[in-house]
Amino acid sequence: MRLRSQTSVMALVLASFVAGTAASAADLSIVSGAVGRDIDELRKHLDMFEAETGISVDIVTMPASTTDQFGQYRLWLSAENPDIDVYRVDVIWAPQLSAHFVDLSEHAADVVDDHFPAIIQSQTVDGRLVALPMFTDAPALYYRSDLLEKHGFEPPATWVELTETAKAIQDAERAEGHDRIWGFVWQGAAYEGLTVNALEWVASNGGGQIVEPDGEISINNENAAEIIDLAATWPGNISPPGVLGYREEEARGVWQVGDAVFMRNWPYAYALSQSDDSAVQDLFDITPLPTGPSGDQNAAGLGGWNLAVSEYSPNKEAAIELVKYLASYEIQKDRAIETTRLPTLPALYEDEDVLAAQPVIGEWLPIFQEAVPRPSAPTKANYNQVSQEFWTAVHATLSGNGDAATNLTQLERNLMRIRRAGW
Ligand code: GLC
Repeated sequence: MRLRSQTSVMALVLASFVAGTAASAADLSIVSGAVGRDIDELRKHLDMFEAETGISVDIVTMPASTTDQFGQYRLWLSAENPDIDVYRVDVIWAPQLSAHFVDLSEHAADVVDDHFPAIIQSQTVDGRLVALPMFTDAPALYYRSDLLEKHGFEPPATWVELTETAKAIQDAERAEGHDRIWGFVWQGAAYEGLTVNALEWVASNGGGQIVEPDGEISINNENAAEIIDLAATWPGNISPPGVLGYREEEARGVWQVGDAVFMRNWPYAYALSQSDDSAVQDLFDITPLPTGPSGDQNAAGLGGWNLAVSEYSPNKEAAIELVKYLASYEIQKDRAIETTRLPTLPALYEDEDVLAAQPVIGEWLPIFQEAVPRPSAPTKANYNQVSQEFWTAVHATLSGNGDAATNLTQLERNLMRIRRAGW
């Protein structure tokens, strides 16, 4: 079953790749994964770019999972594929893919200082700026304000409170006939998204960041084990058993039809949840993710997407122009207003049009500013392996295969083996 669906995903990827290159004579091609309306929004901006510059651009679409995208990007880049000019890349992949991307420092010298310095720094590897920011990302806790009010609850401050509130409202709603409702939906599939969810639990409980900025492997500790064991009580209790296969869009699907009290998700889900065809339109709000019972940090995992120009592009000059266009103030402004994607330009958080159309963007600024990065900088070329070991250990615990203390001890050994002499 699993094998078959993976094969068909790859067949689709291949088909869209072939269609994207052979069937048209566009000047450039950009490869991008997507959730929600990402591709429609990108298409709109590419058409605007073409109208302004005469440069046409095809989109090569990817599966939604960043893990699947990374695998494909790595293959194409090591094969020096000349058919893709621009890659939409996750904030975490810069250190691993940097050798294949053009240094944008000089080309973007006139605009880099307009972006948040930390984001530019995250895309700078050995002094080379390998991608320009498109939007940043930090999740929040979405909650059904109508249901919390109806049942007399405040938004939860801790994960323990969330567990209790979710259960109480779920039970009360089911007793009234809302059979399909669940307390909490999130991303529990074995992929990069689970790494971010679990890092948030651990950091919020004073359990560190898996690997610390100085390279120390810190994950095998009591605070981390305590909160992962708490999360292991959720599937089948306050979360659907299927949550262990959920990524962003599966969680949003349950939430947006009105079948969840709480959801952990990124800002893109906000505009969609507010759309006219959403069952939860005007019935929800957001708040920072809870803190752990033994911690005091509202820890949102830092995400975000950036645009890199391939070293193997035969059309680098036009590709650089495109990247600058998609990262520009006007385009980021439209993206924020239409899709609640968080801008990477501080000035847009004071733009009156943005704040009038999407006041939530202002609320999201402190969440983003305090977000916790994944250890992709300290673990360098090993990040994907480190993350995979982490999500595997967490997924096992959530599935009832061993408790967190046992699985984190084994994880620590595996990470030490990966690190050997140094990251
Ligand atoms: C979001 C984030 C990205 C993260 C991914 C995990 O797309 O922006 O950084 O890796 O979710 O699923």
